[in-house]
Amino acid sequence: MSLQGFLGLYMQNFSVIILAAGLGTRMKSSLPKVMHELSGKPLVRWVIDAVSPLKPDKIVVVVGYGRKVVEENLSGSNVKFVYQGKQLGTAHAVAQAKEVLKDYNGDIVVINGDVPLIKTDTISNLIKSNKDNGSSVTVLSTEVKDPFGYGRIIRKNGFLEKIIEEKDASLVEKQIKEVNSGIYCFDKNLWKALLKVKLNNVKKEYYITDTIAILKNSNSKASIVCVKNEFEVKGINSRVDLSQMETILQEQKIKSLLNSGVSIINTKNVYVSYDASIGTDTIIYPGTFIDTGVTIGKSCVLKGSNYIIDSKIGDESIISYSYVNGANIGKKVKIGPFAHIRPGSILKENVKIGNFSETKKSLIEKNSKVSHLSYIGDAQIGTNVNIGAGTITCNYDGKHKHQTIIEKNVFVGSNTNIVAPVKIGKGSLIAAGSTITHDVPKEKLAIARARQELKHRIKK
Ligand code: UD1
Ligand code: MG
Repeated sequence: MSLQGFLGLYMQNFSVIILAAGLGTRMKSSLPKVMHELSGKPLVRWVIDAVSPLKPDKIVVVVGYGRKVVEENLSGSNVKFVYQGKQLGTAHAVAQAKEVLKDYNGDIVVINGDVPLIKTDTISNLIKSNKDNGSSVTVLSTEVKDPFGYGRIIRKNGFLEKIIEEKDASLVEKQIKEVNSGIYCFDKNLWKALLKVKLNNVKKEYYITDTIAILKNSNSKASIVCVKNEFEVKGINSRVDLSQMETILQEQKIKSLLNSGVSIINTKNVYVSYDASIGTDTIIYPGTFIDTGVTIGKSCVLKGSNYIIDSKIGDESIISYSYVNGANIGKKVKIGPFAHIRPGSILKENVKIGNFSETKKSLIEKNSKVSHLSYIGDAQIGTNVNIGAGTITCNYDGKHKHQTIIEKNVFVGSNTNIVAPVKIGKGSLIAAGSTITHDVPKEKLAIARARQELKHRIKK
């Protein structure tokens, strides 16, 4: 059997409990803490995305405060929810998962829902270490510069003894820099240990961290895996934590882009989502915000304050001062300055969308131009079409949206209203200022405007 196959079998034998029921008092927010977003993705989703590649048997999410928002956001992902009615502490939260996992024989990974940067490999090592050591619990720890707020790892003769929370720690214990990450792997002794957790702390909560000493005292083995990178296991408790984490992610992303051949003129003045893919020799000027779901090709230029989300941009395209959402943009396309490219826009090679123009749910074929002040919605535009300044597709009758079809080589004069549904045949020319309400056959000149009259000017 291959090593991967072996690991695959090995890894199947665990489940995950994610703690996501807390309000997160320190966030000072009505939104549950785990729904706050890091780089556009809720904290709890980061955790789910980190464990999912290991294919756990079950992922149980403990919800409580704001459960509806959490459940709605995670609907569609392969998780089970259990409800913690009152937030009586992390041990109480884990206990809620018992109904789902009590007959389960594999190991159980417990993860706080506020640890977004945890890596898949680290969790995999934690599970392996718990099994290899024959431990009942293995705690993931790290050494931090400032341990304030974390549970401290208390070792005796080098071995894990217990975890003491900040509020219960003595002055000496508070000096300890090795802290609990809030990520643990338990065997099924977890459930027995939970029954013994007491309310004997300052916060008057049931602490999952108390299970360590409980298991040790019942002759079970408790071990530690210590990770080097403290940011990987940093818990988010406040907006300060969140913004620091965002900065760290940004720094990592920008560095990796620079190293992969992308130019960023001012690294402090752009935002690039963790999941963006950007090709070599692309230049990003100050002010651009690249949100989630963006792929940008090679040798593109992003100039000025662009906002781009959920879009694909082909090689050698230039986007300046524009808002691009849900678009599929081909090679050598020029957008902006000040264009609005909305969902469903498909712009093929060499298309130009100029200033104050908007496109929506429209296909614009190669070499066509919408250079100034236009609205193109629910339209199909062929190759080599020129849309004159101020032209709009009148796609909405107040109830329904209608299609406009403009075939190749059409020239639409400035300030034209195209009242959909309508089709303009190939090679036709629409006179400036027309209001087109009927189909135009191919290769015609359509003039649909009041004739100019000349009258005597009466001077007063
Ligand atoms: C916890 C640990 C601490 C560790 C730190 C790591 C305990 C007692 N302390 O502290 O040792 O260093 O994480 O970041 O576990 N939650 C519930 N129900 C509750 C309470 C909390 O689901 O009743 C959830 C929260 O939504 C959160 C997670 O559990 O996702 C951790 O809670 P939090 O209040 O952030 O614990 P910390 O004070 O950070
Ligand atoms: Mg926390």
